[in-house]
Amino acid sequence: MAEKARIAVLISGAGTNMAALVYASRMADSPYEVALVASNNPDAAGLALAQAEGIATFALPHKGMTREAHDAAMEAAVIEAGAEYIVLAGYMRILSDAFVARWEGRMLNIHPSLLPLYKGLDTHARAIAAGDSHGGTSVHLVTPELDGGEVLAQIAVPITPDETPASLAERVKLAEHQLYPRAVADYVSRWRDPAALLARVRALALALPETDERESHGSPGFRVGGEKSGKYFAYFADQHHGSPHIACLVRTGGMDELLSLVEGQPEVYFKPAYYGASGWVGIILNRPGVDWDAVGEWLERSWRGAAPKRLTRLMDVADAF
Ligand code: GRF
Repeated sequence: MAEKARIAVLISGAGTNMAALVYASRMADSPYEVALVASNNPDAAGLALAQAEGIATFALPHKGMTREAHDAAMEAAVIEAGAEYIVLAGYMRILSDAFVARWEGRMLNIHPSLLPLYKGLDTHARAIAAGDSHGGTSVHLVTPELDGGEVLAQIAVPITPDETPASLAERVKLAEHQLYPRAVADYVSRWRDPAALLARVRALALALPETDERESHGSPGFRVGGEKSGKYFAYFADQHHGSPHIACLVRTGGMDELLSLVEGQPEVYFKPAYYGASGWVGIILNRPGVDWDAVGEWLERSWRGAAPKRLTRLMDVADAF
């Protein structure tokens, strides 16, 4: 089992979602561990629980501090704890844009509605008043727009005839306690999930002109130039021929370049079986911190090498502007 991802959980109140995250993390196959529980409210009940669980805690009231200064202090505690992800669980603070930007793609929140419905507060009362058949909960990525980031997972919860906002809130929390640990586990595992990695490679490869996807020897391959005369410019290889790597294969300028890449950055590049002999390099994708812009640049370069002249000429003209 790979090393566990470290998460910091930020709370303001009861912290029942934090507790659900902690207990799920205690199962042997959990891909994450809770490195820190932090709060803007020193009296948050969840802090005492975290302490009793032997988890590091940090509390700092925001009163009298600017938003930026408070965010920065929370962030410093998160970094000090070695956390790679921030998981908001009833953290009742609007975060400054700069803080959110720094953690983009590494900060999650849980919101008690079926987003995009009912952003903000009083979600249960609003769902009941609207006569909705269901309330629910959503886990989403945090972006500068309040409750507006990509939704990662949801559970719908039926609204019963005598429902009150309090009774609905209570049942939604039960759903949240199931949903959040699973969504966090899936999210922190994404970097080694073949389906998620293939989806990213596919999106980059098929964004290039006149490309299509076709299987080649059991792997997804990406071609340029049309149905009949298309040439492969990339392959997706999921632990092929005993390799531990999930990789994107692209064509280099030749064996010299391939070998110098592999020698210079063995954590990023490897020489794949069979394809390596003709100058294809493997870019290792199942590692944290993949530079996806660089993967995109490699795909474009490999595409150029395989694309018919009429297409590369167009690209050259576009580049000249
Ligand atoms: C949850 O309902 C969550 O959706 C919302 O705040 C509540 C936090 O509850 N963001 P708890 O502190 O985890 O019990």
